[in-house]
Amino acid sequence: MIMEIAKLEKHFGGLVAVQEVDLALAAGSIHAVIGPNGAGKTTFFNAITSIIPCDSGQITWKGERIEKLSPQSISAKGIARTFQNIRLFAFMSVLENVIAGTHNHFRSFVWGALTRNARYRREEKESREMAMALLEKVGLAEKHAEYARNLPYGEQRKLEIARALASRPDLLLLDEPAAGMNNTETEELEQFIRALRAEGLTVLIIEHDVKLIMGLADRITVLDHGVKIAEGTAAEIQNNEKVIEAYLGKRRV
Ligand SMILES: Nc1ncnc2c1ncn2[C@@H]1O[C@H](COP(=O)(O)OP(=O)(O)OP(=O)(O)O)[C@@H](O)[C@H]1O
Ligand SMILES: [Mg+2]
Repeated sequence: MIMEIAKLEKHFGGLVAVQEVDLALAAGSIHAVIGPNGAGKTTFFNAITSIIPCDSGQITWKGERIEKLSPQSISAKGIARTFQNIRLFAFMSVLENVIAGTHNHFRSFVWGALTRNARYRREEKESREMAMALLEKVGLAEKHAEYARNLPYGEQRKLEIARALASRPDLLLLDEPAAGMNNTETEELEQFIRALRAEGLTVLIIEHDVKLIMGLADRITVLDHGVKIAEGTAAEIQNNEKVIEAYLGKRRV
């Protein structure tokens, strides 16, 4: 297991948004987290990536405890994410947004940016090339000079994924990546995530598009009211009474 989460818990005042959730993430797998609106999925991701501190529980990443680390340290350990509410630099170009994602990688960056030393210039060239390669991969190379804010919603989601990949993560967390995408884009996204798995990346994905998840995920964890109510393969989840009641019963699928 590349990551093991034990009894992770997060309260907001009296509300238990995530309650004693366990999750074991197999290296190189696509693992989905699903559940109705307000189930605690985003809070779970926020706690894993320390965007909000968890109240209790343990997160072990490659054998090392990480639940107390800062978001920057977690990112430096090879865990990258996208956000349900897209967080891009609106007035930076598409390419600059991806380059910004590479900088965790280059220790000399801040000092180098001030002095523009030789190492900085080399790394800047490397990160630019890597960013362009990632834009090729997500199909946005032609738009590299546009302001991020001018992209349609679905393309902004692709850009966020490219930026997350720029830190060369081993684990990618995607919070509703298909939201705002049309059918063609969603199918492309599915192929893209499969290709990432084929390259060895581990993917943890929150998604409301049940069809997408059922075809894509090796394993699915279902949350409801902050509690893990089921876990298994798509076939197992589809036939689980608790899931049908809690999740499928509340939503049109
Ligand atoms: N910062 C916060 N302060 C207070 N309550 C919060 C905060 N963030 C989330 N919550 C509450 O915690 C619960 C879980 O929210 P969360 O956003 O994690 O759910 P979700 O499963 O991601 O839902 P959705 O499918 O709508 O994205 C909800 O009741 C929500 O209102
Ligand atoms: Mg959410």
